[in-house]
This record gives sequence, structure tokens and C-alpha cells, in this order.
Amino acid sequence: MIERKNEVEKRKVTTEDRLLHGGDYNPDQWLSYPDVLKQDVEFMKLAHANTFSIGMFAWAALEPEEGVYDFEWLDEVIERIHSIGGRLILATPSGARPAWMSQKYPEVLRVDSYRRKQLHGARHNHCYSSSYYRKKTQEMNTKLAERYGDHPALLMWHPSNEYGGECHCELCQANFRTWLKEKYNHSLDELNHSWWGPFWSHTITDWEQIESPSPIGENAVHGMNLDWRRFVSHMTIDFYKNEIEPLRKITPDIPISANFMSDNPEFVPFTGLDYSQFAKEVDVISWDAYPAWHNDWEDTPTLAARTAFLNDHFYAMKDQPFILMESTPSAVNWHDVNKAKRPGMHLLSALQMHAHGSDSNLYFQWRKSRGSSEKFHGAVIDHDQSTENRVFKEVAELGKIMENISDKVTGYRRQADVAILFDVESNWALDDAQGFGLKTKQYGRTLQKHYQAFWEEDIAVDVISKEHDFSKYTLLVVPMLYLMSEETAEKLQTFVKNGGTLVTSYISGIVDESDLTHLGGWLKPLKETFGMEPLETDTYYPSDRNTLDFNGKEYEVKDYATIIEVNEANVLGTYTEDFYKGTPALTENPYGKGKAYYIGARAEHAFHADFYGKLIRDLKLEPALSVEHERGVSVQGREAEGLRTVFIMNFTESEQPISILETVKDVQTGETMEGKRTLQPYEVLIVEKEIGN
Ligand code: GLA
Ligand code: GLA
Ligand code: GLA
Repeated sequence: MIERKNEVEKRKVTTEDRLLHGGDYNPDQWLSYPDVLKQDVEFMKLAHANTFSIGMFAWAALEPEEGVYDFEWLDEVIERIHSIGGRLILATPSGARPAWMSQKYPEVLRVDSYRRKQLHGARHNHCYSSSYYRKKTQEMNTKLAERYGDHPALLMWHPSNEYGGECHCELCQANFRTWLKEKYNHSLDELNHSWWGPFWSHTITDWEQIESPSPIGENAVHGMNLDWRRFVSHMTIDFYKNEIEPLRKITPDIPISANFMSDNPEFVPFTGLDYSQFAKEVDVISWDAYPAWHNDWEDTPTLAARTAFLNDHFYAMKDQPFILMESTPSAVNWHDVNKAKRPGMHLLSALQMHAHGSDSNLYFQWRKSRGSSEKFHGAVIDHDQSTENRVFKEVAELGKIMENISDKVTGYRRQADVAILFDVESNWALDDAQGFGLKTKQYGRTLQKHYQAFWEEDIAVDVISKEHDFSKYTLLVVPMLYLMSEETAEKLQTFVKNGGTLVTSYISGIVDESDLTHLGGWLKPLKETFGMEPLETDTYYPSDRNTLDFNGKEYEVKDYATIIEVNEANVLGTYTEDFYKGTPALTENPYGKGKAYYIGARAEHAFHADFYGKLIRDLKLEPALSVEHERGVSVQGREAEGLRTVFIMNFTESEQPISILETVKDVQTGETMEGKRTLQPYEVLIVEKEIGN
């Protein structure tokens, strides 16, 4: 087993010592309601709120006419927040534009993939190539940084809002071609080879023939689709770098974030951009989390595990605490059904964020809008303007708890011996693949299913990218890595050779970084590491089933089954049906100092639970605290400087008996405890234990 450092240092991501509680505050919607603005500050105190993000959609209020600026209203709001000891996450307003700008400079408007110029409206829809928009955002951000850079309340920058989407205008087409020329060394031969040009006579003979993918044009060249996704990420990050330039220059000590998100409503890793690249440019990772609690298609523990997975993804991006930039204290307004959190769920879901590395609970939004599309989205202050309703009271209660636990959570680190690999490029290529089951690929969801087996055993996991250092993990799980370069295959081989345990699955290692299939069977490093080779992927109709026989038990298989040729590997499991009945479905290969497992089929959850359960015991992986409990209780912790803070969370609708097998102390009351207890529905215990050297 790889040695773990006993003492980790705190890693505070802002200068604030407290956990941050508060959220998006949009006073610019209420400037003609002075009483409301005064009430906001009174209620902030009552809610135990201390941090507010302001200005993400305030461009029209900050620059009502071209070149005419008005910061006075913002000065006042900032002073009010400062007067109660509050801190400020100042947004830049590029997520939405004032109408005068679109009217006068239409180049800021996006063109969609059908080549339709968009009209002014909505938000998150600027052209990232527009030099006017780039200049204008720099001007605005210079003014904000000069005016507020020295303000003692300023904690962090929040550039724009949820970057995403793509533009197909002429400026972007030209930039795409330039980007391609650089990538392919100005050689159309190289480009045509990567894009498999001769297919359907799609050979490019002049750079000007290249047009971004379109439903009414080119959409069948997978290498190009993949390059386009990379280019969109590149341009978005480039726009971001341009936008933050004045902030870096004028306020070098103020950290800069950018609120990331999940793919919604599926609630799986975001695929609009390559966050693994974007993360390199931000100082603090933050994200907006909107799980659909109490839905009718999955139980609460399953959704809790998926939420935990996403948190562990954002934590691992920089191996440091992150900020939960947005969440709702009750319901959202954009799920199919917008159900309010049941009593207790707000506390539970918010504390889960802390357990997995968040140093904040921030909401969208502080006060519910009176008009327009978000007027029914959950907020801390409702239209009743009361502090007596259930939502406000639960928010205030959480605020108090956060104050109590702040010094034993803020800056505390997560420690994981297990990593699951998510690769957005593989996700793009797999989604594009015309093959397998078009509806059953579900890469993100599949990763979450593998993850759930660890979550149920309270084993901490990092959700990493292919660029991470693998060597610090004992176990690396790499399901469905469809796109795999030789470089990644070699990196995986080295990991096993040096003692790591590696698991991969069906539909892995099929295409290279250009989305060209590997020739000559599976990649050599993979054949060597796994001691076997996948020969054929069988894809099932929805009602088809097979069975995987493993360790004397039978597990249901659906969607995918790989037919395997074994060389040196040991066969751990076999199929019980079909023309490959009795052939290997699960293999294990000792290689170098480590071991490599191949899971050939998509099996039911019980298989993951038993298979990973066995690995957890074989590898002696341990939870943050030993607690006996039933499914649905989750135990996760953070630590620093010899102390571990552990959250014991009941994600079920019933009482849960638990047994704590070590002596711990309640963080809030100081009470010592050990042994049996009962957790109420949605109850959370927060305990601490000293960890020795
Ligand atoms: C049609 C076309 C072929 C090929 C096949 C694939 O028959 O003529 O070019 O695309 O479909 O099934
Ligand atoms: C997308 C985003 C969410 C939210 C909704 C609002 O789905 O991912 O965070 O902004 O839009 O419509
Ligand atoms: C996103 C956006 C917010 C708001 C919420 C609603 O996260 O960033 O502005 O629209 O969704 O859920």
C-alpha cells in the first residue's frame, strides 16, 4: 500500500477564516426599493450570512449608456455589507449585456450552429472572439478593480457567470482555422489524416473550406467534432484570460474563481468545456450544485452519492477546498418538477458539501426576484419578506452551525487513496460515436455508479483527470475510457508496474486522441498490463440480459458485454448465457508490483458493491472513521494538522442505528461519544478525532 502522509496542512483558499455563508445578491433589481435594500442587511445578520456575490448581471446598472458609468449604488451596497462584517465576492458582468451594446455592436451576438445570428436577449451568449466585447470587458473590469481593489470587504473575484456555449460567427470560423493550422503544423495532409478525410470524399484541399460542425453542414467527421469541442474550450478559456487580465494586474492578491457547474438536469460532470484545462487558470474552484432532492427516479442515498461524486471532482481539480458558489435553499425553477427540500434536507445537503471539501454554502439567490423568469426560484428571502418561514429559519440554523464548526473545517483537506478517472475528451468522443447503444453509453452516469460502491463503504475518492499524478493512489478506477492515447495507456501501465491496482471496463482504449481507432488490436501497454484482450463488444437491446458469475454469486448484466481473450490473466468471473456462455467476463492480472482488473460487462449495483468491497478489504482501505451502519448513512471527513472532522450523515427517510467504533468528540458540544446511537431522518453528527503520526 502506498504510504500516506499523516499530517496535512490547512489550505485556506481565501483570506477569510470562517466558512462562507450567503450567496448571489442582486440589489440592482431593487434599486427603486430603498426599504428592501435596508431590510436585506438586517436579514443578513439574522441569517448568520457573511458573504455575498454581487454584480454578475449588473452591466446595465453599471454602464447604463456607452461610456457612462454609475458605481454609486454599488458603493452603497458594499458599504452596507461591510458595516455588518460581511465579505464580498465581486462579479464581473460579462454573463449578460446591456441592450445598447447589442444594438450598436452586433458582433457581440452569437451565431448558432445553423448559422442563425441570435437576437439580443437572455444571457451567457456573447461571442468570445469579438474584439469589441473583449476590450469592453477589460474596460469594465479595470474600473471595478480600481474602484474596489483595496476595499477591505473584497474577498474574491467571480468573473462572468457559468461560462459555456459556442459561437459559429465568421470571426469564430477564422479563429477555428487559425487554431487548426497551428495544431496541424499548417499541413492539410496531417489534418486530413486525423480527420479521416477520404471518408465520403471529405478531403479538405483549402483551409477556407473548413466550417465548424453544423446540423446543416459537416457533422460526420468525428475528428473535426472533437477538435471543435477543444477549440470551444480553448476560446472560452482565452476569453476568460483576457477578461481577468486587469484583475490580475491591479489586484494581484485577490483570488479569482469562475463558477463551474454540472451537466443538468442529468447531474453528471459538465461536458460543455474541458474543466481540467480551465481549472489551471483559476485560483479557487467553485461550482453551482442543484441536485433534485426527493425526485421520483432514484432514492436519496443514490442522489447523495452522485452529489458526493461531483464534489470530489471539484475538490480534486486543484487538490484543495472549493467554494459552493450557488445552491438553492428550497426549490429551483428549471427542473421538470420543482420540489421544495423537505425539512432537514437543507441542513443535511449543505453539511454534505462541507464534508466533501466545500468552504462555503452560498445560494442562488439571496432575495427572490419580483419579476421575470426566476421569480419562483428558491431564495433566502421569499416574497413574503419574512424571517418566520421554514426556509429562512433553516438557513439561519445552518448559519449558526457553520459558525460553530468553522475552525475545524475551513481549509481542511480531503485524503483519498482511491481515484476514479473522468476524461471529458473521452466523453465527447464516446457521445459522438455512431455505435454501441446510442442511449446506453451514459459515461458520466456509469462513473457515478462505480463511485457509489466506495461511497457506501465510506471510502474517500478523488475524481481526477488523465493529467493528474496517479502515483499517490492505491487504487485507480478507469471505467469506459473509450478515447485513450498511447501516452495514457503507458501512464496506466507504469502505475500498475509500480504497485498500483487498476480497474478498467468494457469500451475502453478504443480510439486515439484524434478519434481514430487503434489498429492491430488493443494497445500493447494495455495487453501487457491486463494480460488479456477485449475481442468484441456485444450491445444489448433493452430487454436483453446476461449473467456474470463471480465468487459463487450471479449478477445481472445489461447493455454491454465484452468477449475476452485471456493470455496471462486469471479469470474471476464468467458469462452464463448466449454464444459466449462460460467465457471470461472479469479478469485479474498481477503485473509488476501491482494488479489490473478488467470488468467486461455492465453489471448491476450488487456486483460493484461486492467486487469493490473485496478490493477495499484486499487493499486495506479505510474510511475517515469506523462506523457501522446500514446503506444510506455516509461517513466522510476532512483533516488538517493532526485533527480529523467527520460528518456522519443520514440520507434516509427513517431512523438509522449506527455504532461508532472509535472514541470521538462532538465538534459543537464537546461531548465524548462512542458506540451505539440512533440518527434521526436526515440527521448529521459532526465529530472530531485526533489522528496520530
Ligand atoms: C447505406 C449506405 C452505405 C453505408 C451503409 C451503412 O447502405 O449506402 O454507404 O452508410 O448504409 O449501413
Ligand atoms: C443550466 C445550468 C443551471 C441553471 C439552469 C438555469 O441548466 O446548468 O445551473 O443555470 O441552466 O436555467
Ligand atoms: C445558475 C445561474 C444562476 C441562476 C441559477 C438558477 O446556476 O448561475 O444565475 O440562474 O442557475 O438555478
